[in-house]
Amino acid sequence: MNVDTDSVKNILYLLASVLFILGIKGLTHPRTAVRGNLLGAAGMLLAIVVTMVGSDHLGWLIAGLVVGGLCGIVAAYKIEMTGMPQLVALFNGFGGIASALVAGAVLHDYLDKAGDTGLVQWLTAEGQDPTQVIIATIASGIIGAVTFSGSVLAFAKLQQLVSSASNTNPLLKVGNVLCTIVAVGLGVVLFMNPDMAGLYWVIVLVSLALGLFLVLPIGGADMPVVITLLNSYSGIAAAATGFVINNTVLIVAGSLVGASGLILTRIMCVAMNRSLTNVLFGVMAEVGEGPSSDEVYAGKVKSASPDEVAMLFDGARRVLIVPGYGMAAAQAQHVVSDLADLLMAKGIDVEYGIHPVAGRMPGHMNVLLAEADVPYDLLKEMDDVNTTIEQVDVALVIGANDTVNPSARTDPSSPIAGMPIIDVDKARTVVVVKRSLSPGFAGIPNPLFACDNTLMLFGDGKKVIGELIAAIKEAG
Ligand code: TAP
Repeated sequence: MNVDTDSVKNILYLLASVLFILGIKGLTHPRTAVRGNLLGAAGMLLAIVVTMVGSDHLGWLIAGLVVGGLCGIVAAYKIEMTGMPQLVALFNGFGGIASALVAGAVLHDYLDKAGDTGLVQWLTAEGQDPTQVIIATIASGIIGAVTFSGSVLAFAKLQQLVSSASNTNPLLKVGNVLCTIVAVGLGVVLFMNPDMAGLYWVIVLVSLALGLFLVLPIGGADMPVVITLLNSYSGIAAAATGFVINNTVLIVAGSLVGASGLILTRIMCVAMNRSLTNVLFGVMAEVGEGPSSDEVYAGKVKSASPDEVAMLFDGARRVLIVPGYGMAAAQAQHVVSDLADLLMAKGIDVEYGIHPVAGRMPGHMNVLLAEADVPYDLLKEMDDVNTTIEQVDVALVIGANDTVNPSARTDPSSPIAGMPIIDVDKARTVVVVKRSLSPGFAGIPNPLFACDNTLMLFGDGKKVIGELIAAIKEAG
């Protein structure tokens, strides 16, 4: 039987695509997430190996595989959990620029092969659709370059290398509109004159500037949304490059990343109560002056010792633990899990209330608590805990601040007005563990700390929870 190599390759690419889809499905639940991750990685390896078979550039491909693999391993070991959003931003950027470079290199390759025949005639003679190839090349150049420069700037903002404040300078909008018009305009010129390969690189340069203008106005608080959006862009750029080089697995993988990035972007916008247009144009809600820390806290904050807090658990039947960024910063997840075990051993119902944007990346709290072997069914989503929060005897807030700030619900002039929060202030007693009265990510005071039913347990999360465990054990 005569086996057509291209057909075999396409079947294996299809298999790789199925592995990607099964991988994403696995990632929808913590119990199957590790398997999902492995399936996705296996799909990627299969796609790379199939691409290598019969390639004229085997040495380059192996070098890319080794260097890329090494970078991934080093990054996975070195990067702190709190630095994950920056890493994701960088990886998105690399994906974007890779797509733009591959599309440009292929354009040059096709032009070399076409010689005097002209690109359109040569592509047609080769059985390719010139319209598809040229439009996809231009799309890949624009979207890939925007993704790269936007992601690098997002990385620099999150790493505090440049100011993360939102910037409403109208010149940025002018730059944004100008670069969009020039990039698309030059794209049209290239489409009409596809033999002008140099124009492609001008489009890439203008799009790099566009990426900067897009991300510069956006403030740090909106950065997670921007990163998921850039993630989606990197997928769309990859899919476009798939059309340039006629590679089905790249089209499928790129489309999956593009679609899932868009879905995550929507989820994040809802969780932070921001519309995508507002995020993209750096528009914040109309913010009034807002009360100062002194006005909110003066004379109203009650602090307690671990011994005093330990006594609260004596009569408690339901405890809700609400973790936030501070638990990650203190690496307190293991002691928090020990505390929960101790309370459950005393017959108390313990659950964790997880806010969708607690911490600094999607799923941050879930990952940390999974690391501490907290059973997944104890983790409850915000909407579920809010419905019965009045029946919670003690809400123990560990390093969370914005995600439990009642001004989001009560003060329409607050920068976080309308952002859904976990309503811990409605619990019978609230204990807040943090080091000081410093604000959280949004930089605003939190009236929760001054509520009548709130006690502040000041100190580093890990240390204080350790002391609380000791006090509970001592009290018997
Ligand atoms: P935040 O509002 O950021 O507050 C964290 C609190 O942890 C701070 O007030 C800090 O107070 C405390 N803290 C820091 N180190 C600590 C330690 N070692 N021990 C104890 N406490 C410590 O946290 P959140 O409630 O999780 O809210 C997350 C915020 O980040 C939201 O505004 C969200 O929009 C934003 N954001 C989220 C993401 C994603 S995707 N999750 C990404 C970027 C930004 P002290 O300094 O007084 O200790």
